[in-house]
Amino acid sequence: MATITVDTRHPGQPISRNLFGNFSEHLGRCIYNGVYVGEGSPIPNENGMRRDIVEALRKIHLPVLRWPGGCFADEYHWEDGIGPKASRRRMVNTNWGSVVEDNSFGTHEFLELCRQIGCEPYINANVGSGTVREMAEWVEYLNQGADSTLARRRAENGHPEPFGVKYWGVGNESWGCGGNMRPEYYADEFRRYQTYCRTYGPHRLYRIACGPSVDDYHWMEVLMERAARYMDGISLHHYTVPGPWEKKGSATVFDADQYYYTLNRADYMDELIRHHASIMDRFDPEKRIGLIVDEWGTWFDVEPGTNPGFLYQQNTMRDAMVAVISLHIFMKHADRVHMANLAQLINVLQALILTDGDQMLLTPTYHVFDLLQGHMDALSLPCDTHCGMLPCGVRQVTASASEKDGVITLTLANLSMTEPEEISLRLEGWKGGSCDARILSEEAHAHNTFDCPDRVAPKAFVPAPEKDGVFSLELPPCSLVSLTLRRA
Ligand code: AHR
Repeated sequence: MATITVDTRHPGQPISRNLFGNFSEHLGRCIYNGVYVGEGSPIPNENGMRRDIVEALRKIHLPVLRWPGGCFADEYHWEDGIGPKASRRRMVNTNWGSVVEDNSFGTHEFLELCRQIGCEPYINANVGSGTVREMAEWVEYLNQGADSTLARRRAENGHPEPFGVKYWGVGNESWGCGGNMRPEYYADEFRRYQTYCRTYGPHRLYRIACGPSVDDYHWMEVLMERAARYMDGISLHHYTVPGPWEKKGSATVFDADQYYYTLNRADYMDELIRHHASIMDRFDPEKRIGLIVDEWGTWFDVEPGTNPGFLYQQNTMRDAMVAVISLHIFMKHADRVHMANLAQLINVLQALILTDGDQMLLTPTYHVFDLLQGHMDALSLPCDTHCGMLPCGVRQVTASASEKDGVITLTLANLSMTEPEEISLRLEGWKGGSCDARILSEEAHAHNTFDCPDRVAPKAFVPAPEKDGVFSLELPPCSLVSLTLRRA
């Protein structure tokens, strides 16, 4: 039996909606044959964007989308992707599968996608093979309201009004695919690049420095010491990889040891954030600078028979458990973590959506984002959880609570692969009201296929009637429950 006590009388820190963000790279079938099918496609679309996908992303209120990479970002030259499509430059995507990139999805298309979804764009600029001028002009092209040549060009390409893009990444993984730089060198490069990225009119920029890989605390230390005052955010990348890089393991075929090891790797995010945040605290005690976890999620072997450079993997209830562990960790550290972006949106790594031709399905991970959306922009509520430990050293139950506009959202997951768990949930300060609940519950390997796209989907859930502010719930193994409580 686990006991959870939520104090509804003392709301705490705000939970930014941007913790539920996503990432879309020119990689495999994320953009092309993913969200973008082109204006002439028989698949129903608006200006080339698949209607079914846009609708699904609107339903979960996707708040922010990062683009164009990833490693791709540091080989991307934005001017190749504007103007008439027939004359756009063709390149080979050497990072991902060596396929020809015709640049038919460029800056205007990305911003059109964000418009349709209703989310904020986050553009990651090229530092590795780009120039200061190139990045500065990209910002100007998008945000300049005055009559400059670049603003005129934007108008000629169909958008007279400035787009006002706020979130800008200055390089990606500059310690690796983004240029193999040392932190001392990158810190100076960041200072130089950001200098020329101007605020035009009301469009104040949020500048995100390239942060560390996983536990590279030295990188964080150097960046904070040398460049903190010039940045608004600093990124962190950590993938949940349950095996050695050469044999990461299958997304769908795994035993209990692999299941629990995967959860352990996901839970490691908590230690990483705590340690990186403690370094940031020394240079930024007011917590002005956001830790931006702009790549996270599972990374398994690709599905058999698919292009190894396309990173296409299935998505099971194990991924759903990784998602809820991670999102609860980000919420717990919402004072420092200001944005997080799952890798990636469609058909790549821990995707929300998979497609096959004109078919599409929502993954278990998508349903986690759906069940947690009540937490967006809410105030967190103190949540004290007492429960047993799993064999991998992770607590069996993870829970988060928040309140917004008189509505309390509570999300609880039983991470055990095989054992149900009884939960006694006490709400301090709750004087009664209505309670709606949904559950996502299937066996750990369960996943959706194009033949059976709704095998894993949320269902209604009825907790035992509340008694004196205490709810009793029985959570099946590998399940997530979301409670929505409205005060009387
Ligand atoms: O998400 C796939 C890749 O992982 C990204 O391109 C890169 O930034 C990271 O190494």
